[in-house]
Amino acid sequence: MHAQSAVEGSDHSDLYDGLSAKPLSIPSKYFYDDLGSALFDEICDLPEYYLTRTELALLERTSAEIARITQPAEVLELGSGTARKTRTLLDAVVKECGEPSYVPVDISGFALETVAETLEANFPALEVEGVLCDYTESLAPVRPGPECLSLFLGSTIGNFVHAGGVGLLSSLRSRFDCPGWFLLGVDLVKPVEILEAAYNDTRGVTEQFNKNILNAVNRAVGGDFDPGDFDHLAFFNDEQSQIELHLVAKRPVDARLDDLDLEVSLDRGEAILTEISRKFTRDTAEGMLVESGFSPERWFPSTDDAFALALARAAGADVLDAG
Ligand code: TRP
Repeated sequence: MHAQSAVEGSDHSDLYDGLSAKPLSIPSKYFYDDLGSALFDEICDLPEYYLTRTELALLERTSAEIARITQPAEVLELGSGTARKTRTLLDAVVKECGEPSYVPVDISGFALETVAETLEANFPALEVEGVLCDYTESLAPVRPGPECLSLFLGSTIGNFVHAGGVGLLSSLRSRFDCPGWFLLGVDLVKPVEILEAAYNDTRGVTEQFNKNILNAVNRAVGGDFDPGDFDHLAFFNDEQSQIELHLVAKRPVDARLDDLDLEVSLDRGEAILTEISRKFTRDTAEGMLVESGFSPERWFPSTDDAFALALARAAGADVLDAG
């Protein structure tokens, strides 16, 4: 059965913009149809994709301390996906200060249904209140209460250009009923071979995930892209400190997107940008938090310095004035 996705309710204007300007791009939220969400879960288990297991090990090591510092009554998670990593933190919170409510926010109804099912099995008393929303469009349905610990894990912040990321974090910050806490997961700059291998797995799951975005676009706006016309390309752009995912036309392509009333033509070798994944340093990550109105308080790097969690405070206006 097909679960609901928040892209279905949108007017697809960002998709129109991305496919009517050169260089071409597709907003990455279109990755997460049912198949895309399932493929993404598979990516997280790939040997080359170090991010998920590194962040999980880091959470296992730091959750008790994070729970002790933040003492949340509510845990809200932006882009929860199926929330596989969050269980560790919820466990620690339950031990430290009792059962919080858990608010997963995601664009995929499929992911939210999976969260609810798996968490119910592990935490029978936990109140789970999923919010199906496209947080890149609006955070209006998101309202972190006081004593809320908000999570944005998986280095999903890296999937936004700098201005977009700061825009998202600032608007999240403005919706806090202060004071509250924010925990941000960021992937760190490291040797290019390791970075590029993570997005070019030998089993081709990332390739399948990348190409599937065309099926999702076809379904969303009545398009006729043939994923077979494209090659998967992922590389590290050193200047921008970001991995880029592209779909490169193997031959000249003419596609029609009925619902957008748009024709898209590509020359052979021309690319569609489908994703960026920025890689951070402590300075760039904490600078972004400060720019968005948060006060970085603690920095938790993984033992191999591959990934980090930045814990920041959303202080009330009075606290900010005093500082
Ligand atoms: N945020 C993660 C990352 O940047 C997950 C992710 C988003 C991803 N899009 C992806 C992983 C595309 C692989 C391919 O790595």
